[in-house]
Amino acid sequence: MNSKINKLKELNALAQLGGGQKRIDKQHAKKKLTARERIQYLLDEGSFEEIGALVTHRTTDFGMDKEIYYGDGVVTGYGTVNGKLIYVYAQDFTVFGGALSETHAEKICKIMDLAVKVGAPIVGLNDSGGARIQEGVKSLGGYADIFYRNVQASGVVPQISAIMGPCAGGAVYSPAMTDFTLMVEDTSYMFVTGPNVVKTVTNETVSSEDLGGAHTHASKSGVAHKTSVNDISCLEDVKKLLSYLPQNNTETTEKLAFSPKDEVRQALNNIIPDNPNKPYDMHEIITGIIDTDSFYEIHKDYAENIIVGFARLGGRSIGIIANQPMFLAGVLDVNSSKKAARFTRFCDAFNIPLLVLVDVPGFLPGTDQEWNGIIVHGAKLLYALSEATVPRVTVITRKAYGGAYDVMNSKHIGADFNYAWPGAEIAVMGAKGASEIIFRKEIASASNPEAKLAEKETEYANTFANPYSAAKRGFIDEVILPENTRRKLIKTFSMLENKKVSLPNRKHGNIPL
Ligand code: COA
Repeated sequence: MNSKINKLKELNALAQLGGGQKRIDKQHAKKKLTARERIQYLLDEGSFEEIGALVTHRTTDFGMDKEIYYGDGVVTGYGTVNGKLIYVYAQDFTVFGGALSETHAEKICKIMDLAVKVGAPIVGLNDSGGARIQEGVKSLGGYADIFYRNVQASGVVPQISAIMGPCAGGAVYSPAMTDFTLMVEDTSYMFVTGPNVVKTVTNETVSSEDLGGAHTHASKSGVAHKTSVNDISCLEDVKKLLSYLPQNNTETTEKLAFSPKDEVRQALNNIIPDNPNKPYDMHEIITGIIDTDSFYEIHKDYAENIIVGFARLGGRSIGIIANQPMFLAGVLDVNSSKKAARFTRFCDAFNIPLLVLVDVPGFLPGTDQEWNGIIVHGAKLLYALSEATVPRVTVITRKAYGGAYDVMNSKHIGADFNYAWPGAEIAVMGAKGASEIIFRKEIASASNPEAKLAEKETEYANTFANPYSAAKRGFIDEVILPENTRRKLIKTFSMLENKKVSLPNRKHGNIPL
């Protein structure tokens, strides 16, 4: 028996070494952790249970029968993060550059299937040279098996991808179908085709970093939701993100202990400038409302005219969507609409209530926006919010103009509670633009057109640049003092906790994609 036990120990020790010490050293020299080290940092100490450590590939072509590594380039299993179960896979770059073979894919699929059956999040740590070149189509099939499962798991369990090395070609589409993609700066990149192919096809010269590095995807393409300076901080970000999420779509997030104190926050009274055209930082309002240091921003550097992220309010996890007057005056445009729509759908799928903070002067005008389909992209946000059945509360801090008023979680599209601050302006457009249109003839024929315009502007502003005509109709449930916002929202979300809404029975809606 002893020899059999020793044999098992030997095999397990070999599996622990992946592609061998030399390659592990190479990985460290690149300032990257190994797959096993990453899992160790991610999970609670001692909680990891590996599945499939002794799996090997089945390829015999190109001398592969002599190149066997236990685990076949991916470490898979389960464990806990802050006491909660997750399933994890980490691609092992020391084995064929983490390239995906048929068996490597089977291992990933096995834990994905378990995660869906059991109802727990899946975290993928990606570091791979792509399809295992020696395997050809078998490896491509393996990718598709994973993609298929990503889609089946979507909206059932949270799926998080951390990109911690190369991720190219077909490999990009699994992260793209997960809920969140986090990238490590300088050591990771993602692209469909690399710089060499780009040069051949389009004659563009571009570096890997510029084409698909963390900064590029966090700011230009929006493919990455968050970036981190190194592997460890990326894994910390994954853990923090998980803390806001439920385990699956049938659960709600755990509520942290909270005992209400004096929840009046006077600082909120002094954030909005007197001049309605002066910007202010919506982050200050978010900070003023939520539990201390609880904001976890998603897509921080992408479409900065809208802010999205998770926070805690009275210990409860919520999703926040907020126009940001500091960027493009907080207008809705193609990218901000897509960003907020996707975030809305995630929160709705996983029972996370939504708070929408509104200061929006409208949609961004121009050929660029129209030709890039602002009509369809703006409709995504309108659709996503209209469809969301989680508790939805709106606070209009300042402007809510035009169609953007409707889109930003108005009462009319199913919001449960709509509050406005006393300085809110809820109108078809700003007073100046409105006066120039409806009083055009009167202004043109006046002896002093400028004075007439100013007079008409004041008249229009007095009528509409306030929250009261909307409140009279019940489109606003209450005009509240800024300092009372936190207290009010804690109560409102608590009151809405057991909200239940059923949508019409259908296969699925047809969101304008
Ligand atoms: N299939 C099989 N083996 C692969 C591989 C793949 N797709 N990608 C990398 N490897 C192997 C390399 O042969 C090397 O093996 P070795 O340790 O025995 O020398 C090892 O993984 C590390 O690769 P290396 O090229 O030395 O690492 P690098 O950090 O310099 O470069 C890549 C990383 C990913 C840029 C580079 O390996 C690469 O371009 N790979 C191919 C990408 C590709 O075209 N994939 C297929 C289409 S999706």
